[in-house]
Amino acid sequence: MWTQGWALSASWRNAGFSHRASACSGTFGNFALFFHQSCPPSNFSLTQTAMSRPLTVFGPYRSPTDGTLMLESVSLNEVAERYGTPCYVYSQSVLLQSYQEYRDAFQSLDTLVCYAVKANANLSLLRLLAAQGAGFDIVSGGELFRVLQAGGDPRRIVFSGVAKSRQEIDEALMAGILCFNVESAAELRRLSERATRLAVTAPVSLRVNPEVDARTHPYIATGLRTSKFGVPATDALALYREAKKLPHLKIVGIDCHIGSQITTLEPFLEATDKILDLVHQLAEEDIHLEHIDLGGGVGICYRDENPLSLSDYASALKPRFSQFRGRLLFEPGRRIVGNAGLLLTRVEYLKSIPERQLVIVDAGMNDLMRPSLYQAWHEIVPVDAPRKTDQKVDIVGPVCESTDVLGTERVLDVQAGDLLAILSCGAYGASMSSRYNARPLLPEVLVNGSLTTVIRRRETYADLIQHELP
Ligand code: LLP
Repeated sequence: MWTQGWALSASWRNAGFSHRASACSGTFGNFALFFHQSCPPSNFSLTQTAMSRPLTVFGPYRSPTDGTLMLESVSLNEVAERYGTPCYVYSQSVLLQSYQEYRDAFQSLDTLVCYAVKANANLSLLRLLAAQGAGFDIVSGGELFRVLQAGGDPRRIVFSGVAKSRQEIDEALMAGILCFNVESAAELRRLSERATRLAVTAPVSLRVNPEVDARTHPYIATGLRTSKFGVPATDALALYREAKKLPHLKIVGIDCHIGSQITTLEPFLEATDKILDLVHQLAEEDIHLEHIDLGGGVGICYRDENPLSLSDYASALKPRFSQFRGRLLFEPGRRIVGNAGLLLTRVEYLKSIPERQLVIVDAGMNDLMRPSLYQAWHEIVPVDAPRKTDQKVDIVGPVCESTDVLGTERVLDVQAGDLLAILSCGAYGASMSSRYNARPLLPEVLVNGSLTTVIRRRETYADLIQHELP
C-alpha cells in the first residue's frame, strides 16, 4: 500500500527549499504504518512521565539511540535548528496513509473522498492529495483557487458553505465543479440565476440538517436544530421540487455534515438513516440522485479518545447502501491531516506565579487557536528525551490575551531554551492561524523520509505591511 506514497517524490519539489537530513540517527522503519490508528507497542513512549497512560498519538517517535523526537527519518532538533521556531512540521507518509486508509475502508462501496480543504489548505499538501486522485470539499473562492492551483480535478470538487457569493458561484460554475452543496432556498435561487446568466447547468445537492446530536464540542456541532448550516429536513422535499423546476439546475445529490471530532459511530448512522429516508421519498417523486455525501467529522486521537474505526463505519454503511446505485461521498478533513502535523516551539522563559508554574513559549494562540477557542487538548512533549518529574506546568504563549494558553497542568520538566512539540496540529492549526500582535505567519515544513522541504516560508516583517499604504 505504501509504495505509492513513497514513490510520489520529487516531481513538484522546489529544490531550493529542500534539504536531506545529514544525521539521521533514528531508524525510520515505517513508523506511520506501525502506529497509525492502532495501539502502539507497549514499550513505546513519548513521555516517560506519562508511561501509564495509553499513547494516543502517532507520527512522531523517539529515537532508540538518544530518545530525541523524530518525524520519519528526521530529528526534530535538526528541523528547529535549520528552520527556526515556531514552525509547523508535517509527515508526508502520515498524510498519505490517512487518505489511503479512508479510500481503503470504503473500497467496497463506490466512493469519492473529498478532502475538506479548510483543515489545512497548504498547496503542497493539496498537491499530494490531488496526485492520489482525491476530491476536495471547498467553502470559498479562495479554496477553489488553491485546489485548482494544486492541480485538483474540478469534477471532484464539492462546494459547501452558507454564504456563497455571486462571484464565488460564478467561479465554481466556470470551473465545472462536481456540485454545489446548497444550504438555503435563497442560495438555490441565486444559483439558478447565475447559471442561467452564464448559460451553464449547475449541479445541485441540498445540504440537509438531519438534526442529530454529534456529541462533540458545541462550537463544532453543525447538525443541531438551531444550527445555521443546511436546510431543515422538513423543508428538503419542497426545495427539491423547486430545484426541479428552476432553470439551469440539475439535481445530482444530497448531503449532510453533522459536526467535527465525532468519536462514535451512532451519530453518523442516525444521520445516514435520516438522509436515506429522504432519498427514498425523492425516488417516489422520480428524483434520482447520483450521489449521497455523508460529510466529514470523523474524530482523531488527541489524548485518550478512542475514535471510531473507518472499517466499522464502512461495514455499517454497506447494507444501508445496497439498493443505492450512485456514488458515496465523504468530506474528511481532520482524519486525513490532523495527526500528520505538529508545532515545534521553543521555551523562552520560565516564570513562577502564585499557584502556577508558567512555561512561556514562542508559539501563541495566533499560531494554534484550538486550545484557546475550544479548550482543545494537544499533547505537548519535549523534543529531547524527557526527564522524570512530578511538576505540573502551564504552557503559555506570547500573545497579549489571558486565553493564550496552549496547555495546562502538564507534567513536564522544562528549562528555558528547550524545544517542545505540540502534537496533532495538522488540522485547523496553520489554517486557522492569524497575524494577531503583528506576529508573522509560521513556516510549514514537510518531512518525507530524510528529506525536509519548506512548503511555506516564514513570513517577514515586510510581509506584515505589504498590503497597506506605506
Ligand atoms: N464538511 C463540511 C461541510 C464542514 O463544515 C467540515 C468542517 C468538514 C467537512 C470537515 O470536518 P472534519 O472531517 O475536519 O471534522 N476548527 C474546528 C473544526 C471546524 C470544522 C468545520 N467544518 C477545530 O479545530 O476543531
